[in-house]
Amino acid sequence: MKRSLVVLLLVGAAVGCSVEHWPDGLRRVPGPDDAIALVPWFSTMHRGLAIQPYKWPVPRPPVEGTIPVTGGERPLPITPANLPAIDADRNPMARTASSLERGKREYDIYCLPCHGEKGAGDGPVNTKLLVAPSILTDQAKRYTDGYLHALVRHGRGVMPAYGDRIRGDDRWHVVNYTRLLQGVGR
Ligand code: HEC
Repeated sequence: MKRSLVVLLLVGAAVGCSVEHWPDGLRRVPGPDDAIALVPWFSTMHRGLAIQPYKWPVPRPPVEGTIPVTGGERPLPITPANLPAIDADRNPMARTASSLERGKREYDIYCLPCHGEKGAGDGPVNTKLLVAPSILTDQAKRYTDGYLHALVRHGRGVMPAYGDRIRGDDRWHVVNYTRLLQGVGR
């Protein structure tokens, strides 16, 4: 008996409110749920970070910094069949100071732990189980920019893929920085 009285009072209070007072700028006939939500302790669900699928803009743009995993560039993992396309992939980023700065930033975060600060294969997480090779060998110097790009993006053998962490252009900046470490000119 007492509980239904409380609910009745709440609904009464709710209906008495003008539209402006509703938490979400309500533009519909308020229901009992809206009345309950007027009590702060009960309104958590109304204030939550819920996705409002019909709120403008529709469709919602991806969150800034989102990395396309599919679409965009087609995947080119290092396989014999992909090699011609990988090697034909041209580096669109000029080796400018800002490109190298950006590349160094990403290299120091993602590559240095295994390959070492200067690429000699002496990174701090190199262990007996996983030994990252030097990237300063003649073989590594002979790779095309496209090959290095595919390697960073998709990984190879036990080297993990970094395509989901190093964004599109940044991968080419890492390639440019790797070239600088290798002392290889364009
Ligand atoms: C978890 C450790 C690890 C990290 C981090 C890592 N690598 Fe590697 N990398 C390896 C291993 C192991 C190999 C050898 C892979 C193989 O045998 O195919 C390798 C191979 C390479 C090679 C080819 C060397 C050769 O002579 O064939 C290059 C170039 C290279 N990595 C660059 C990078 C770059 C650039 C990054 C950062 C985006 C990076 N690696 C991050 C472990 C790592």
